[in-house]
Amino acid sequence: MKFTKKDFLWGGATAANQFEGEFNKDGKSLNVAEMVPYVKLQDRASIPLDISAFAKKNLEKSIENKEGLHYPKRIGSNHYNRYKEDIDLLAEAKMDIYRMSISWGRIYPNGDESKPNEKGLEFYHNLLNYCKQKGLKVMVTLHHFDTPYPIGVKYGGWMNKEVINMFVKYAKTLFTEFGNIVDFWLPFNEINVSCFAPMMSATFPEDYPGVSYDQLRFQTLHNQLIAQAEVVQLGHEMLKKKNIGCMIANMTTYPIDCNPVNIIEWQKSEQVSRYFFFDMVAKGEYPTYIIKLFEKLNVRLDTNPEEMNILKNNTVDFLSFSYYMTGTVAKKEEGKTGGNLMAMGKNPFLKANEWGWQIDPQGLRYTLNDLWNRYHLPIFISENGIGHDEKLNDKKTVDDDYRIDYMHQHFIAINDALEDGVDVFGYTMWGVIDLVSAGTSEMSKRYGLVYVDYDDYHNGTGDRFKKKSFNWFKNFKETLEL
Ligand code: BG6
Repeated sequence: MKFTKKDFLWGGATAANQFEGEFNKDGKSLNVAEMVPYVKLQDRASIPLDISAFAKKNLEKSIENKEGLHYPKRIGSNHYNRYKEDIDLLAEAKMDIYRMSISWGRIYPNGDESKPNEKGLEFYHNLLNYCKQKGLKVMVTLHHFDTPYPIGVKYGGWMNKEVINMFVKYAKTLFTEFGNIVDFWLPFNEINVSCFAPMMSATFPEDYPGVSYDQLRFQTLHNQLIAQAEVVQLGHEMLKKKNIGCMIANMTTYPIDCNPVNIIEWQKSEQVSRYFFFDMVAKGEYPTYIIKLFEKLNVRLDTNPEEMNILKNNTVDFLSFSYYMTGTVAKKEEGKTGGNLMAMGKNPFLKANEWGWQIDPQGLRYTLNDLWNRYHLPIFISENGIGHDEKLNDKKTVDDDYRIDYMHQHFIAINDALEDGVDVFGYTMWGVIDLVSAGTSEMSKRYGLVYVDYDDYHNGTGDRFKKKSFNWFKNFKETLEL
């Protein structure tokens, strides 16, 4: 069969904190991701995110690093020095679009400077111009789990409204510098993650004794939602096209069965773990089910009518989300498996990868239909892919047939959704060139079409090698045949 939509945008995605390396070069500051050491996992499928790794006292130890631990995100895939080679590979695979992130700490290392760091701007000018030279459209994320750590230290992170202003100043700089070459903007990667793990954006419970964890996480999310809405407002004033989207970690679930008790449980779970975030960015107001939840949890947001107006009047132009797996929900839990930042209910009909992430192409079709029916906004799949532990074979490639199958099935699901009438306009495959895992800091959890020769301790040359899936993707792009 042929993929039907000719102008669909196909591409790959990466993030600065997992890909660039050179964490302290040319004036860049540290971020929390770069302060988390690699720790070998005993059982890959058992973990959701290890929250204790983000305790402030542990993170601070990383600055002196007396134990000599390895901090993988400080090296990433050394894209900072090899970006031309990487962009050449994306162009060679016939990609239309590259989703990348800009590191806030390269532009405003402390957040509160009055002028941006010229060296940081220069790097992104070079990179973005090179993308354009190679005919790639670009989608830029402004914040991909990388609030500069100095903002955490001096301002207490995102609980402080001053950080909203710093973020908007940073966005203004990017719109001024790159507004004419960037095609799409995403203010925050997986904005809902701040509500599961506010520490990842340098907001630490230790700094707020007496404040409940629920208060902390929902206030952090709220302040980021306001920052995002202000950036949408600014972008609509400054940029020629209205192309600012959200990016949400989408965790689609199914009820475990048709027992009404389980259906109600599932509906509640979908509201709180999924629709809440899309509702906020697409409808611009707190849904009643969340207001009720806040009452129960005793969460009282620090906000005012002006902020609520900003939210309401600056909703996003398109929806984007990450989609890796689905899970199940039951009133009485019946077994959990791994998942993106959180454990998910097992589904007996689905297979999973080594980390327990359940592979579900049909779920992508379901999710696309669900979001389209609910919001009627254009949709972009900004992350999707499969992690595998891989080694180069003697032909200096990886025969990753499972990845080919994964892409194949998910691309068919997108086509089906288009046939269903969903307005989905693009797809960027996660970690298109191998990079460090966000959740586990493993280099060996590989997602790419291109293998990067580093192990979990960054032994290796860092050289790039095309996997079998690279050729499959290229052929698909040339023929649109599935
Ligand atoms: C998303 C993130 O959560 O999933 C990426 O936006 C991340 O940064 C990706 O890498 C896959 O997760 P992981 O933990 O396998 O790297």
